[in-house]
Amino acid sequence: MTAQGPTDQARTYPAPDTFKARALVDAQTYEKMYAASVGDPDAFWGEHGKRLEWIKPYTKVKNVNFTFGEVSIKWFEDGTLNVAANCVDRHLATRAEQTAIIWEPDDPKTPARHITYRELHEQVCRMANVLKSQGVTKGDRVVIYLPMIPEAAFAMLACARIGAIHSIVFAGFSADALADRVNDSAAKVVITADEAPRGGRRTALKSNADAALLRCSDKVRCLVVKHTGGQTTWVQGRDVDVLEMMSHASPDCPPEEVGAEDPLFVLYTSGSTGKPKGVVHTSGGYLVYAAMTHELVFDYHPGDVFWCTADVGWVTGHSYIVYGPLANGATTVMFEGVPTWPDAGRFWEVCAKHKVNQFYTAPTAIRALMAFGTEPVEKHDLSSLRLLGSVGEPINPEAWNWYNTHVGKGNCPIVDTWWQTETGGHLITPLPGAIPAKPGSATRPFFGVKPVVLEAESGKLIEDTAAEGVLCIADSWPGQMRTVWGDHERFQETYFQQYKGYYFSGDGCRRDADGYYWITGRVDDVINVSGHRMGTAEVESALVAHDKVAEAAVVGYPHDVKGQGIYAYVTLMHGVEPTEELRKELEVWVRREIGPIAKPDLIQWAPGLPKTRSGKIMRRILRKIAENDAASLGDTSTLADPGVVDDLVENRMNKG
Ligand code: PRX
Repeated sequence: MTAQGPTDQARTYPAPDTFKARALVDAQTYEKMYAASVGDPDAFWGEHGKRLEWIKPYTKVKNVNFTFGEVSIKWFEDGTLNVAANCVDRHLATRAEQTAIIWEPDDPKTPARHITYRELHEQVCRMANVLKSQGVTKGDRVVIYLPMIPEAAFAMLACARIGAIHSIVFAGFSADALADRVNDSAAKVVITADEAPRGGRRTALKSNADAALLRCSDKVRCLVVKHTGGQTTWVQGRDVDVLEMMSHASPDCPPEEVGAEDPLFVLYTSGSTGKPKGVVHTSGGYLVYAAMTHELVFDYHPGDVFWCTADVGWVTGHSYIVYGPLANGATTVMFEGVPTWPDAGRFWEVCAKHKVNQFYTAPTAIRALMAFGTEPVEKHDLSSLRLLGSVGEPINPEAWNWYNTHVGKGNCPIVDTWWQTETGGHLITPLPGAIPAKPGSATRPFFGVKPVVLEAESGKLIEDTAAEGVLCIADSWPGQMRTVWGDHERFQETYFQQYKGYYFSGDGCRRDADGYYWITGRVDDVINVSGHRMGTAEVESALVAHDKVAEAAVVGYPHDVKGQGIYAYVTLMHGVEPTEELRKELEVWVRREIGPIAKPDLIQWAPGLPKTRSGKIMRRILRKIAENDAASLGDTSTLADPGVVDDLVENRMNKG
């Protein structure tokens, strides 16, 4: 490797020879397969689609149009299959007694559960039959609002089994956020639990669901998993004790035949404008892609124990706790707890306890744990680990080095995987036996992925290898989202309008002289808080919904642990006193409107916001102030009232 250019001075880290010796893909194979995948996608994916079991094999592979106004994405379109049968039934012949899911509860004193493929099959069938008994049929939507318990995976697969479309709402979201998603997807059923334990505390999920359902059609049924046994109110005729019903339901449920392009799930995600949008993933292409990336990126070998620490409420949990691993007949760990409870050694204790081979987490978790020193890591036997993964945000070199040295002991390749809810699976990531890592770089594209770097303003394609601009993808891959639920226009406008002929990721990036990609973060009004995506517009609209708030503008700022923090500028209604109580009240308000992850870290009272003469808020200026970089505010002369900036700079909250 040559070291040239401003970004690739970083040292490269090839995988250790012992790792390479048994790696699934080596450097030469990567180059050959990559060339084949972009050279003839039909032939390449036609072959790799065969990793699934199809009811009716496909004869067409790729049928894609990225032209704005005509965007249409189809893969394997005339094939039929069942996703649950691929993730469960087809493994029964060879690995019925192998553990499919290891469930590690929040409280380490509660025993873990080991669920074999045979048991998984039975539970999924029972849950599917319960859904059927509630009138759920193919194409219906089911909202899942559950803690990280095996029932969440059963519910996902039960939907897939009967061809219903699930939409998981992260258990940290509020009643209002849940209601919006139930209504937008017109779901027939909500599956929830009495309570969600996390870090020794309990969230009253069912009572959130009760509050949400007041805002929904009274036809929506509520299936309740009695998980902690905590008290809940019970609405006769609407609420159903799902575990009790499962115990009577038949353990047999034939899988429904679905088309490759029938939706598998909808997952709501934040964008730069408006309410979160329902990202639609379909059955065939998504599963091929999730399974293949899971196997090759994590170098998964049969018998390995794989642990992705995400929540199933995010896409990472969909693709790399449930669908990818189970499609590969893997053993996947599902963890209910948090990294720092009962102490900062919990992740490592779980790795040692279950002899985890591949461990996949977010940089924010690493940074949070670094603050506790190395003792909690060194206490545990991590010798089972072979590979580490990172996802959700760029990993800073300090965190990378700590992860590499103290967790991986210098023996585990680190795969920094760049992808999005929209992409279904990894797009830019090292294949560990093939591509040496550079700390902070997601490295090179996965098979079939054609990243391009464009000039942000002009949209001009930058041909040179070393490049900096916005990251787009020039052609489709099977895991790509197909549409926004109920709004294909919005899908096209969001991803295909600005840079014609390309999928626009919303991220900026640099490509170094070695062709490695370095993601520099969002170029739109989306912020990344602890690896969670948050639209600034969402937080703003929650704030202005408060009757004491006249106006609000929200931006991100660098945060030591979270990556980015939420900085809110709030203009109060005339005559309202800015007090500490009000600040607290607004924090609680946003938590209630959206959920704890949206709580502003800093709220600054703003007598006025910097606006252009046409009334547009100058976010660039607000970002600079929040970043404590008032020195480079640039030209403020076009502002309607340049004086407001001085006040904001003087009273900024981020003085650190
Ligand atoms: O900005 C990128 C960042 O997370 C965004 C996608 O967020 P979400 O849809 O919630 O999915 C997160 C998990 C896949 C991207 O647009 N991002 C994700 N992974 C990385 C990353 N930024 C840098 N490096 C990564 N490895």
